[in-house]
Amino acid sequence: MSERKIGVVGGGLMGHGIAYLLAAAGHDVCVFEPVAASRASLPQRLHAIAALFGDDPAHLRRISAHDQLAPAVKDAAFVFEAAPERLSLKQRIFADLESAVAPDTVLASNSSAIPSSDIGRNLKYRQRVIGAHFWNPPHLVPLVEVIENEKTSGEVVNKTMELLRHAGKTPVHVHRDIPGFVGNRLQHAMKREAIALVAAGICDAETIDIVVREGPGARMAVLGPMEQSDLVGLDLTLDIAEVLYAHLDRTPGPHPFLREKVKDGKLGMKTGEGLRTWTAESADAVRQRLSRFFVEQAKARRKGSV
Ligand SMILES: NC(=O)c1ccc[n+]([C@@H]2O[C@H](COP(=O)([O-])OP(=O)(O)OC[C@H]3O[C@@H](n4cnc5c(N)ncnc54)[C@H](O)[C@@H]3O)[C@@H](O)[C@H]2O)c1
Repeated sequence: MSERKIGVVGGGLMGHGIAYLLAAAGHDVCVFEPVAASRASLPQRLHAIAALFGDDPAHLRRISAHDQLAPAVKDAAFVFEAAPERLSLKQRIFADLESAVAPDTVLASNSSAIPSSDIGRNLKYRQRVIGAHFWNPPHLVPLVEVIENEKTSGEVVNKTMELLRHAGKTPVHVHRDIPGFVGNRLQHAMKREAIALVAAGICDAETIDIVVREGPGARMAVLGPMEQSDLVGLDLTLDIAEVLYAHLDRTPGPHPFLREKVKDGKLGMKTGEGLRTWTAESADAVRQRLSRFFVEQAKARRKGSV
């Protein structure tokens, strides 16, 4: 794929990682970040990613930071928006983008929850608006959900998928813009059951983590649930579903156990207690473990051994 100019709107947690991975793929990336302190810390945050991978930081020269939107996105083939999660703000950004880019520039939102059709509702050229949901940290997690809305053209879906594939990501095409897309729906279906099990006293929260990590999670990186169902046979899958589904949690809305935790200020690692209890050291050990795992996986993927 030829090198392109790409705009990134918002240089925060997601935006700086997206900028890094696109520059590493050979593109010129201009980041619009209105907050001076975030702009100032961008080079240091980008260098930290290069150090994590052991990359030559030379390609960071392809990334520039801007305090104005229009120069950052001028002549861009794609813009990835990673600004704060507020509909009115994103709508304003997309309106400003439309007046600063060509009619065929792809405008992709990294929103976790806001449909891109709502973000682009008032635009003139709506066929180029699409969702591109990266997972955190975007330079380490391979998946990007590419979410088509009812106005997105097939060409824009294909172009976005191709760009991301070329940048080493694993893009998937989500055909409709539904809340939670695919990944978060699956993740929260499991969390819902996990919280209900702990609330009912069936096991403690640590046991849930062991069961997932050492059981189904141990194979999930190489065996998705659809393959796994076909592997064991759909007859067995149906037999289990007949017995089990009636017993799964169906609490409407978030479980009272979760609401109670939040009401009591038990928010997780940042307050020392959530579903489990944490010290600064044990919380840090989890972060380190996750980071090491991601980096090893990403390096292996680059070498083609995963
Ligand atoms: N954090 C995650 O785990 C995660 C995962 C997937 C998707 N997302 C989505 O990505 C988007 C960004 O999230 P984040 O976690 O990077 O947030 P963040 O707060 O770390 O970054 C947002 C950045 O946007 C900047 N900003 C503020 N106003 C702006 C404006 N008017 N125009 C452009 N930039 C502006 C902020 O200064 C900040 O640097 C959100 O839509 C979020 O839902 C986040």
